[in-house]
Amino acid sequence: MKEEMKDLKYFIETWGCQMNEEDSEKLSGMLKSIGYSKSTDIKDADIIIFNTCCVRENAENKVFGNLGELKHLKKKKPELIVAVCGCMMQQEGMADKILSKFPHVNIIFGTHNAYKFPEYLNRVKTEGVQVKEIFNKETEIIEGVPIDRESSVKAFVTIMYGCNNFCTYCVVPYVRGRERSRKSEDIIKEIEDLVAKGYKEVTLLGQNVNSYGKGLEEDIDFAKLLRKINEVQGLERVRFMTSHPKDLNKDVIYAIKECDKLCEQIHLPVQSGSNRILKKMNRHYTKESYLELVELIKKEIPGVSLTTDIIVGFPGETEEDFLDTLDLVQKVQYDSAFTFIYSRRNNTPADMMLNQVPDADKHHRFDRLVKAVNESVIMKNKEFEGKVTEVLVEGFSKNDETKFTGRTRNGKLVNFTGENIKAGDLVNVKIVRAQPFSLVGEAL
Ligand code: 5AD
Ligand code: SF4
Repeated sequence: MKEEMKDLKYFIETWGCQMNEEDSEKLSGMLKSIGYSKSTDIKDADIIIFNTCCVRENAENKVFGNLGELKHLKKKKPELIVAVCGCMMQQEGMADKILSKFPHVNIIFGTHNAYKFPEYLNRVKTEGVQVKEIFNKETEIIEGVPIDRESSVKAFVTIMYGCNNFCTYCVVPYVRGRERSRKSEDIIKEIEDLVAKGYKEVTLLGQNVNSYGKGLEEDIDFAKLLRKINEVQGLERVRFMTSHPKDLNKDVIYAIKECDKLCEQIHLPVQSGSNRILKKMNRHYTKESYLELVELIKKEIPGVSLTTDIIVGFPGETEEDFLDTLDLVQKVQYDSAFTFIYSRRNNTPADMMLNQVPDADKHHRFDRLVKAVNESVIMKNKEFEGKVTEVLVEGFSKNDETKFTGRTRNGKLVNFTGENIKAGDLVNVKIVRAQPFSLVGEAL
């Protein structure tokens, strides 16, 4: 059977966050384990999978556009199998909408049943049916799904799924279900296996990693998990995301301070600097408490890099509210920030709020926010000029094969020259120049 399928190829397009990327790595792992190989050219593939995101409207529109384009490909190649999965499929009515607009889609599944993909594929191939299966509730955590990782140096490791926070703008709790944590022994085992394969860095993933452990029988929380992971021999670096400012506590800050493998980097989405808006977003902290937390983090973890997510144009946001956000950005001095224009999402509380902000105001604020963020990013990068910093080498630089590329402990991208260097090495690099989104250096 495997012999016969030797040349079959798949192509996966992934939209959205690291969670989706990790799910795609699992789809890829499952396909490889049944004999498929990966293609980077969509035209060359026998199976095309679109792993979708619905956090903002523009991600959804891209999926519709790409599905439309596949019609021609499918006409030329009728045996092509098209599968659509991910967060968009968990929205009510979306799967049917896709099937009626794009009847050439063969398989539709959601975020809770991706592990069943090989079974769906088999049904399409043997029975010639169209498969649509979406679980509207989370299942038990399924362990042991093979993962085909992009990198051979660093890996994502999911420690918990779902979110209970219900920020009023966000669809994630509806499409990813309630919070549930993996057992620490399963996480440690996965990390030990990664280290045995030569991996040096893990990024622990969860929508709200700080509530890790709730509901498990063992006596564990996120700080304790971090300390356990720090004991894994041969592992060099540990990062994690995402932290909710209401839940990031001193235990975690001290764990980072005291454990050598925990990198000095925290992704701490603030969303807004206005207390009025934070309340309407259901975020459970204030600008002042956030700034206090930032101050504590900076005091306890020297050289820490702070990154964030910010939304402009949330319903009811006034110019004054926006100026509070700008003020916060200037006070924190982020190392980088993902900036978003508020996007109305069906059935979320914010979508029903009456005072939606006009598009022109949203865009005007967005431009000013990006400018403020960029100023801060450049300033933070400049602090590295002339300094020597440890870089974990990921391989050759994408744009210049004479250079190597890697990241500092606090997450900065460095392109550098050097000799006798390979992926997975930890190298001391002297930074000669800071660019807006990367550093340039020379290995010592
Ligand atoms: N509109 C704009 N941005 C959003 N995010 C989540 N929902 C929305 C929305 N409806 C952003 C938040 C979150 C990040 C992953 O996406 O900033 O932290
Ligand atoms: Fe969405 Fe808020 Fe949960 Fe983050 S914490 S996934 S923004 S509901």
